[in-house]
Amino acid sequence: VQISIDDTSGHNDTSPMAYGIMFEDINHSGDGGIYAEMVTNRAFQGSNWITGTVPGLDGALIVESENPSVPLGPVLTGWGPIGDVRMTLNTLHPLSDALPTVMQIDVPAYATGEVGFQNFGWWGMDVRPQTYTASFYALANEPRYMDNSTTFTVSLRSNLTGEVWASTTLDTLRLPTLDYVQLNATIENGVTAPNSNNTFAITMDASEVAGQTFYFDLMSLFPETFRDRKNGLRKDLAEAYVDMGVKFLRFPGGNNLEGVSVDARWKWWETIGPLKDRPGRLGDWGYFNTDGLGLLEYLEWCEDMSIEPVIGVYAGFSLDIYGQVGTDWPEDRMDEVLDEALGLLEYCMGDTSTKWGAMRAEHGHPEPFDVNFVEVGNEDWFSATYPYRWNAMYNGLKAAYPDITIISSAFDENDDYTISLPDGTIWDTHHYEEPQYFISRFDFYDNWQAETGNEGVGVFLGEFSVYQVDTPSGVVDYSNPPNLHIFHPRMISALAEAVYALGGERNPNTVRMSAYAPTLQNFNWYNWTPDMIGFTADVTETVLSTSYWWQWMFSRFTGSKSVPIVPTSGDFGPLYWSSQWHEAANKVYVKVCIKGIALQPNADCHSSSTSTIPRPFLSRSTSTCRTWPSMPRFSQPTIRMRQIPSSTPTW
Ligand code: AHR
Repeated sequence: VQISIDDTSGHNDTSPMAYGIMFEDINHSGDGGIYAEMVTNRAFQGSNWITGTVPGLDGALIVESENPSVPLGPVLTGWGPIGDVRMTLNTLHPLSDALPTVMQIDVPAYATGEVGFQNFGWWGMDVRPQTYTASFYALANEPRYMDNSTTFTVSLRSNLTGEVWASTTLDTLRLPTLDYVQLNATIENGVTAPNSNNTFAITMDASEVAGQTFYFDLMSLFPETFRDRKNGLRKDLAEAYVDMGVKFLRFPGGNNLEGVSVDARWKWWETIGPLKDRPGRLGDWGYFNTDGLGLLEYLEWCEDMSIEPVIGVYAGFSLDIYGQVGTDWPEDRMDEVLDEALGLLEYCMGDTSTKWGAMRAEHGHPEPFDVNFVEVGNEDWFSATYPYRWNAMYNGLKAAYPDITIISSAFDENDDYTISLPDGTIWDTHHYEEPQYFISRFDFYDNWQAETGNEGVGVFLGEFSVYQVDTPSGVVDYSNPPNLHIFHPRMISALAEAVYALGGERNPNTVRMSAYAPTLQNFNWYNWTPDMIGFTADVTETVLSTSYWWQWMFSRFTGSKSVPIVPTSGDFGPLYWSSQWHEAANKVYVKVCIKGIALQPNADCHSSSTSTIPRPFLSRSTSTCRTWPSMPRFSQPTIRMRQIPSSTPTW
């Protein structure tokens, strides 16, 4: 095949938003992932993990519950005692309405030496030279006549040997007995621990506190974060996103927007403000979300990366996955759903004279954010009630914010369109498919607007990735059979996804945005594969996949005008191409993909069959062909194949 660039015709504008990030808390990508908090179960908000021990290692360690679909309530998972203390949960001395469960520490009268407690982190703790920021709330319970002078020490230490890597002793204080006091400290650490089997400890001297009882909550430890944000993001993962040159962040889901019940939906107003006022929620992906990564943190994430927020707003449908039904908000109560979304936008964009704008200022960000994209719901092509829900949301949002581009999550390309979209809107389409699907869709958007009567409607390739090897039927089996499922991106994934994206680049009037999904996989605990970036919670390993690198190339080498390419011989397949002109740099970028040969599952080293988990504490060694964790104990099909009830509201 010979191709040549035709500079005599065409030159459409390209989409400035072509590549972005889809993020939701799945695979422990938020808590235990990009949200840099190092303390697990920091405020006893609920857990579906049980506490167990790993042979050969001391102390309590986190292991996955045998039945993760049955979430437990508050537990002491992740915590262990130091010295002679009794450690229990207590609800009689709540820190706040949002965080009613605290940890009670009883120090017996006979105790001597160091007493306190420690946290084992999210499958370990990374200790390396840097400044750590620690904080916790404490309350004393001793009778007033006792001298309750207490000297706290916060430290990072080895869970294997007890060796203290770094510590800070706080000023001695008389702890209050009525209201909690928040104590803050920094820990300057100059040591690189040999592995991640480390803990964060809060200790006292028994000579001061023997015979007394204390309550503690919201223990927190942060490493240095991306752009030094307080309560911020893990640096290496954030930098991997930045390095891609992406242009937007879609959040907070995905399914995780909708909730496993109406009550468990993402209530944005419960994710803002002081951490002690955030109750957290049971997320859609089988674990509790602390909501430390809340609405403001998402907006600051966008601000710090200079990218556009694409905010998913709840649209009146919850998955109710544990009961295997969905709940639709009734039509005559859609004004409540709309009000939630309008409140969210006021929090983002309102000035300080507005209720929510003033609240944002109180939370430390007086300047309004710019929000130009809002998505109504998630994957609502499943739902028969979307037409009335979409209408209520679209009309209400558009009336209040006429300039915002509204994205619909329902619009079925198989011709049974549930709604027709107004001009200026964007349709979000999701595909987890075989390589051949993406390759065959290279030209899918060539005349899509005209052929489907959607001249004014754009498309967002909102979630896509190669999920399964090619099969004769082309039908994806979402039960993930090991001989078909692709557990980690590989070359054929990257090539097929890239061909699909090239098709988008060739049609910038139609395909405005795209995002691979899911983007982050925590190797210690995950429930969806494949993913673009894999990492360990303890920061010892981060793997940028082939699917990451094609997007890195495409996103960084984007021009402002598309340039037609004319084949002087041959045609598309197996070679695919597209070209863009970067006017400012006066460069033409030519992107070319050639379809390779699909490897069979388990034929390469990135196979699930070489599982070695649990592997909570890695030593700092690297291997070129590492082993991968086993598949999770529950899989996604129950969620993707969700059963949607009839159109009758079931409120
Ligand atoms: O990316 C994982 C899930 O896939 C998303 O939550 C959902 O939108 C889709 O079904």
